[in-house]
Amino acid sequence: LRPVGIVGTGSYVPEQIISNSDLEKMVDTSDEWIRTRTGIRERRKADDNTATSDLAIVAAQRALEDAGVNPEDVDLIIVATVTPDMLFPATACLVQKAIGAERAAAFDLEAACSGFIYGLGIGSQMVATGLYDTVLVIAADTLSKIVDWTDRNTCVLFGDGAGAAVLRPVSEGEGILGNYLKADGNGSELLKVPAGGSRLPSSVETVTQRLHYIHMNGNEVFKFAVRIMEEAALKALEQCGLSKKDIDYLIPHQANIRIVEAALKRLEVPSDKVYINLDRYGNISGASIAVALDEALKEGKIQAGDLVLLVGFGAGLTWGATVIRW
Ligand code: ACO
Repeated sequence: LRPVGIVGTGSYVPEQIISNSDLEKMVDTSDEWIRTRTGIRERRKADDNTATSDLAIVAAQRALEDAGVNPEDVDLIIVATVTPDMLFPATACLVQKAIGAERAAAFDLEAACSGFIYGLGIGSQMVATGLYDTVLVIAADTLSKIVDWTDRNTCVLFGDGAGAAVLRPVSEGEGILGNYLKADGNGSELLKVPAGGSRLPSSVETVTQRLHYIHMNGNEVFKFAVRIMEEAALKALEQCGLSKKDIDYLIPHQANIRIVEAALKRLEVPSDKVYINLDRYGNISGASIAVALDEALKEGKIQAGDLVLLVGFGAGLTWGATVIRW
C-alpha cells in the first residue's frame, strides 16, 4: 500500500451571522444559556438561494488551489453530507460539474458529523491501493435548512459550512497513519430527521408534524459523545502503534465545548493543542473537523512532523478518528 496524505485543504462558510442575541428574539433562550451550556456565540447561515453544493464547490476549489491540483486531475469526489441539495443526484455530481472535474467518479457519503473522518478513510484507501492518485474529500452541510427554528433544544446548536481536503500519495512515514471507523445503529433514534425518506415519505402530515426537522435526544448524545471521543482516539492511535502521549495537535468535532473539554481531559491534551471554532460556527456536522483543520493549517497551528488527531461522532450513531503525520 502507498502512503497517502492530505496535500491541500480549503473551506468556506456563508457570510450571514446568526448571533445568540438574534436567537433570543426567535425562541425562549439566552446568550448566557447558550454560551455556558455549549460554548457557541454565533453560527453561519446560508441564504434561501444557497444549497450545500454551493458551499462545497467553493471549499473544493480552495482545496485544489491549495494543493496545486487541476480539477481534471481529480479521480474521485466524495461529498459527506446530511443535507444534500436533493435526495438524488448526489451532491458530489453537482460539485464535479461545477469545478470541471471531468474525469472524476463522484458519490455522497452519509455518516453525519463523522462524515469527514469516514471520507478520509475511504478516500485514502482508494489512493493507498493505487486505484486512484487524487481524491477530493468534501464535508459540507447546511443544517440551517433542516433545523426547526422554533425548537430551542436544537436551533441554537447548528450552523452551515464546508471543508475539503485533497488526498495524494506522500513520502513513507508521512500522511494518514491510521483511520478508525465505527457505528452503532442501536442509537439511531437519538438523532434523526424522521421524514422525507422511504419510511415516512413527504406528505402534508409529515410537514404539519414538523418531521422534516432535526429531532435529538441531546442528553443521551452528550453522554455518548464524552465516552466515545476518547475511545475513538485511542483505537486510532493503537492502530499505528501510538498512544495519547504522541498527540501534538487535536482537532475534535465541534459540537459542544463541554464535550471537547471532557475529551481533552481524558486524552491529557493541553488546551493550547486543540483547535476550537465552535464559538464562531456552532456544529456544522461533518464540515466541523474539515473547516477546523483548514483554519488550523492556515493559522500555522500545525507544524511539519506534528502528529495530528482528528476525532468525531455523529448521528447513526457513528464515530471515528484519523491519525496524520504532517
Ligand atoms: N435555551 C434555554 N434553555 C434551554 C435551551 C436553550 N436553547 N435548550 C434546552 N434548554 C433547557 C431544557 O429545556 C431543560 O429545561 P428543563 O430542565 O426545564 O426541561 C434545561 O435547559 C436543561 O436541558 P439539558 O438537555 O439537560 O441541558 P444540557 O446541559 O444537557 O445541554 C445540550 C443540552 C446543549 C443539547 C447538550 O445535551 C448537548 O450538547 N448534547 C450533545 C448534542 C450534540 O452534540 N448533537 C450533535 C451530534 S452530531 C450530529 O450528528 C449532528
